[in-house]
Amino acid sequence: MAKLLASVRMGAMPGAPTAVHAAIDRLLSRLDAEHRDEFADRVDRWWPDVESGVTALYGQTHDIETLCVDLISRAARAFADRDPELHRLDRIRMLTPDWLQQPGMVGYACYTERFADDLQGVATHLDYLGELGVSYVHLMPLLRPREGDSDGGYAVADYRSVRPDLGTTEDLRNLARQMRAHGMSLVMDLVLNHVAREHVWAEKARAGEKEYRDYFYIYPDRTKPDEYEATLPEVFPDFAPGNFTWDEDVEGWVWTTFNEWQWDVNWSNPAVLGEYADIILFLANLGVEVMRLDAIAFTWKRVGTNCQNQPEVHDLTQVLHALSRMAAPAVAFKAEAIVGPRDLIQYLGTGTHVGKVSDLAYHNSLMVQAWSMLAVSDTQLTRQALRALPSTPSTGTWITYVRCHDDIGWAIDDRDAEAVGLNGFLHRRFLADWYAGDVAESWGRGMVFQFNEETGDKRTSGTAASLAGLEAARNDDEIQHALARVFLIHALAYGWGGIPVIWSGDELGTLNDPIWAAEPGHAEDNRWAHRPRLDWQAAERRGDLRTREGKIFQGLAHLAKVRASLPQLHASAESRIYGEHIDRGLLATLRNHPSGPMLCIYNVTEDWRPFPGMEFEPIGFTNPVNALGNNHPVAIGEDGYIWLSPFAAWWVVDQPVG
Ligand code: GLC
Repeated sequence: MAKLLASVRMGAMPGAPTAVHAAIDRLLSRLDAEHRDEFADRVDRWWPDVESGVTALYGQTHDIETLCVDLISRAARAFADRDPELHRLDRIRMLTPDWLQQPGMVGYACYTERFADDLQGVATHLDYLGELGVSYVHLMPLLRPREGDSDGGYAVADYRSVRPDLGTTEDLRNLARQMRAHGMSLVMDLVLNHVAREHVWAEKARAGEKEYRDYFYIYPDRTKPDEYEATLPEVFPDFAPGNFTWDEDVEGWVWTTFNEWQWDVNWSNPAVLGEYADIILFLANLGVEVMRLDAIAFTWKRVGTNCQNQPEVHDLTQVLHALSRMAAPAVAFKAEAIVGPRDLIQYLGTGTHVGKVSDLAYHNSLMVQAWSMLAVSDTQLTRQALRALPSTPSTGTWITYVRCHDDIGWAIDDRDAEAVGLNGFLHRRFLADWYAGDVAESWGRGMVFQFNEETGDKRTSGTAASLAGLEAARNDDEIQHALARVFLIHALAYGWGGIPVIWSGDELGTLNDPIWAAEPGHAEDNRWAHRPRLDWQAAERRGDLRTREGKIFQGLAHLAKVRASLPQLHASAESRIYGEHIDRGLLATLRNHPSGPMLCIYNVTEDWRPFPGMEFEPIGFTNPVNALGNNHPVAIGEDGYIWLSPFAAWWVVDQPVG
C-alpha cells in the first residue's frame, strides 16, 4: 500500500525535492507511518506554492532550497505537535473545503474585555452568540501588547502569551475547544506589519544586535525616509504624522507606518518570514481557525510607491498559506486590506495566486456604499461601484459588515463617482460631514476621525445605531426610521454572500459610548466611541420586541435563520447588481444559483418605491416569495408594480417546493 501511495504521489505531481523529504523524515521520526505519509503528501501538494513564493521574494538574494527546507521543517514540527482533536478538525475541513462559504456562516467581532471581561467570560456567553446564529467569533487582539497605549492591542509585545488580565494560553485553548463544541470557529488577529517597540526583536535591535536590527527598517539619516515619504500617505496624520520615527537607542529613523511605537518589520528579510510562520502555527495549534492578517497591504515596501498592495504581499501570503495548509489545513486566512476596490480583489487571489492567498477579505466597498446610499437616498453610485468590481475567485469570499472596530474611510473611487456625475472628493467630504452630523437634516451622529488638513481627507467613527439615526431620533417616526436603517443595512450585508460579521453592540442598537475618552490612552482616538462595553442589562431585553434591543437583536437573528435556509446564499454564487432602469431609490442584487435565482431588493429611502412586476418572469421566477417576510408571495399590484415600504428589504426566491 505504501508503495502504491508513493507512486501515486510521484506520478501526480512533481512534489518536493528529496532534500525536503529527508529533512521532514528526520523531524517526524517519532510519528507513525500513516501520519508521516499524510504530512509528506501535503508537502508535495503545497510545495510548488512555497517554492514559487520564496523564489519571487528572495530568489535574487538567497539560496531557495535552504530557505524552503527551513520553512517546511517549521511546518513539520507544528504538525507533529498538533493536538489529535485538531488533526481531526483538519480532516473535517478538508472534507468540507467550502465551510466558510456556506450560508449558515455568521460572524461576531468583539474585544474580549468589553464583551465579557476575560476569556473565561466569553465562554459563558456562547449561548448568547448562538441565539444570533453566530458560527465565527473574532476576538480582537488579545496577545500581550505593550503597556500603555497599544492601539487596541495592535502593538504586540509577545505573540506567545495572552494579555494577563484576559487569561492564559490555556484559557485560550479551552475557549477554542468550547467554541468548537458550539459549532463556532475562533478568529484572531495576526499583526504582521509591525511589532511593539517593546517586543523582544525590537529590544534586541535597540541593544545593538545586528541580526535583529535587520528585522526592521532603520536608517541612519533622512535620505531614504525622505525618498519614501515623497509618495507615502499618512495613516494617522492626527496623532502619528509621518511614517518614520527617530529612535535614540538605535540611533536611526525607524519605519513606523502607524504609531511611533509600532515598528514595521522587514519582510524582505527571510528570517522574518520564518518567525511569522512559527507564530501562525503556534496559534493554529491553540485552536485558532481563522487568522486575520492585520494591515497586510503594508507589508512590502517599494520606493516611489505608496508602499501598499505590492505584488510581493501576495507572494508572502502564499508561502504562509501553503505552510499552514501543510501543518494545519483547518486554518483559513482573512486579509485585512482596506484598500481601493480595484486593489482589493488581489487579496482573494488573481492570476497565479488564485486559491493560494487569503480565503476571506473585507468587503470595504459594500460597507462604504451602504452608508453612502442611506445618506443620499439614491443608489446610482452604489450600482456603478459594485458593478465595477471584478468577480471573486471561487476559492475566496467576502466578509460583509456594517461597522467594525475601525473608522470608516470613505473609499469612493474617483472614477466611479465621475461615471455618475459626482466629484469623488466632494462626495467623500459630504459623507464625512453627514455622518458627523455637520450637515443640516443629517440624522448621523458619528465623529470625524483623522482630519488630514493637507489632503482634506476625513474619516468617521460611530456605532451603527448612532450613524443610522437612533441617537438623533426625537420622535417615534424617527426612531422607526433609524431602526429600519439598522435592519436594512444588515440585510444588505447578510444578503450579499460571504460571511456577515456583526460588530459587538450593534445587535442591541448600542449608541456611541459617551465616556469613550475616559480610559487611559484613549482620549486621542475616537474609534473608542464605537467600541462600547456590552451592556448586559440591555441584552436582557433582547427577547422583548417592544424594545429597540429586541427589535434589532431579533431582526438579526431572523436574518441569520433565513440566510442559513437559502442555498442561494452559498458564496459560490455571486451577487450582481440588477436593473439599470429601476427606481433610483432601490438597490436590487441578483444571485443566480442552481437552486434558483435570488433577487434582493432594498429601498434606501423614506418613501414607498415601485419595482416593476414584469421583471420576475424573465429572471426565471415562477412563484416568487419574500423569504425575509415569512415567504409571503410577491404580490404585483394592478399598476404592474410591487411597492416597497420605506427602508424595506426583500429577499425574493421561488416558493420552496413541498
Ligand atoms: C488595522 C487595524 C487597526 C490598527 C491598524 C494597525 O488596520 O484594524 O485598528 O490601528 O491595523 O495595526
